[in-house]
Amino acid sequence: MTPPPTSLVIFGGGGDLTWRKLVPALYNLFLENSLPEQFRIFGVDRQELSNDAYLQHLREGLDQFSRRGRVNEDDWKRFAGVVTYVRADLMDAAAYRQLARQFDQQDQQWHTQAARVFYLATSPTLVQPIAQHLQQAGLTGEDKPVRIVVEKPFGRDLASATQLNRVLLGIFTEKQVFRIDHYLGKETVQNVLAFRFANSVFEPVWNRRYIRDVQITVAEEVGVEHRGGYYDQSGALRDMVQNHLLQVLCMIAMEPPVAFDADEIRNKKADVLRALRPIPPDQVPQFAVRGQYGPGKADGKPVPGYRQEESVAPHSNTETFAALKLYVDNWRWEGVPFYLRTGKRLPARVSEANIQFRHVPHRSFPPEAGHEWPANRLAIRIQPDEGIALCIEAKRPGLQMHLSPVEMHFLYKEMFNESSPEAYETLLLDTMRGDATLFMRADQVEAAWTAVMPVLDFWSQHPPGDFPNYAAGHWGPTAADELLARDGHRWMTPGAACKTSEAAK
Ligand code: BG6
Repeated sequence: MTPPPTSLVIFGGGGDLTWRKLVPALYNLFLENSLPEQFRIFGVDRQELSNDAYLQHLREGLDQFSRRGRVNEDDWKRFAGVVTYVRADLMDAAAYRQLARQFDQQDQQWHTQAARVFYLATSPTLVQPIAQHLQQAGLTGEDKPVRIVVEKPFGRDLASATQLNRVLLGIFTEKQVFRIDHYLGKETVQNVLAFRFANSVFEPVWNRRYIRDVQITVAEEVGVEHRGGYYDQSGALRDMVQNHLLQVLCMIAMEPPVAFDADEIRNKKADVLRALRPIPPDQVPQFAVRGQYGPGKADGKPVPGYRQEESVAPHSNTETFAALKLYVDNWRWEGVPFYLRTGKRLPARVSEANIQFRHVPHRSFPPEAGHEWPANRLAIRIQPDEGIALCIEAKRPGLQMHLSPVEMHFLYKEMFNESSPEAYETLLLDTMRGDATLFMRADQVEAAWTAVMPVLDFWSQHPPGDFPNYAAGHWGPTAADELLARDGHRWMTPGAACKTSEAAK
């Protein structure tokens, strides 16, 4: 469905997110004819820039970051024609009045009232003032076709997220607020729903009877790059776990939806968050591990530690690695641990959910069949090498009954010719269509903050004594291994469904 006529305003139009992600995504949508005929992008920022200089900057971003590679002249010319740079101070009420006039002129030209999408690619501190200015300029209203898109981090704890929701919902309706979690736009994350609910074979075993534990790993090879200023105030738990990892957990753990409808899907996900067993404030170290990288290697080359990175405090206690053990207290998942881990400067960029099934209840094979069979394991690869792999036991060719683990797999790139859209393409189009299925609702954001608050509180009250506690290029601190070892488990190496599954006990 092509969206209705739309004016898309990007506050923070000169920033990094716009440059690397939003404009490349819009460009691809544009070339695929997914955008309406009547469509305009207003890039709003405070820098003194001519429209031409702004366009030149965007073009350089496209050359680097568009999944189509360098732009071609004709396509670029057509796209540049729908982009307008607006120089404005976002704290100045006059800027919003000026925007309102520009929209009116645009609507007159188009002979319609276009939808207005306000995308806040700005610092989180500007969300509240921008929303209030939009209201004062008469640009909001329940009856108007407006939407506000808010990037993460949505607040920095439960109290600030609740307050931000209160402010936004005093100005917009929930249906007009789109809280982005870009992981939900990833093809493979959406595929979890297809995998679970469009196939009949998995759902009957998708529960505590057959599943021993679930592991979700989102590993990054990069360090904090140029985002030290933001990251040092945030840390891995706020930056990744509260949003991306918990959302992946929801997709794995949710009950089947009755319909593929925004509220129904979000209700089912919110149920998972509400069922998370609260981490007891006095037992946080038994459930959560933090780490910070020191100097080490990435891609074979020496790299500095976190405390030596640009814009990071030299004695910073911010965690660049976090691991959690969570339980979902409901009939389906009672007693099944969900282990989550994420970190920067780990050995590889890989995001994967691993479902570890239980061992067969009885082994009928003779001893020569081998003692070391792993139990079945399912790997849902979010990135890279997007796909799904299942490790099963098979008889080795030969005269004897010898068993070996083998991998069955489905890889997106082998199976489909078309390339997957970037997460931001999906999400931007959804905001214009008004489809909130892949966005966070107020109650979900608050429930996710509620889940991590005991850990945030404990960590802020008990500074770590051992940072840095892992060298760049390693899988986090040893305490992360101990977290699982206490339960008799160990982390599965992402990227190989069979290779390192635990041997049968
Ligand atoms: C962002 C975080 O939300 O996700 C970054 O702020 C992180 O710190 C990024 O690098 C990871 O996203 P992706 O899509 O590259 O896995």
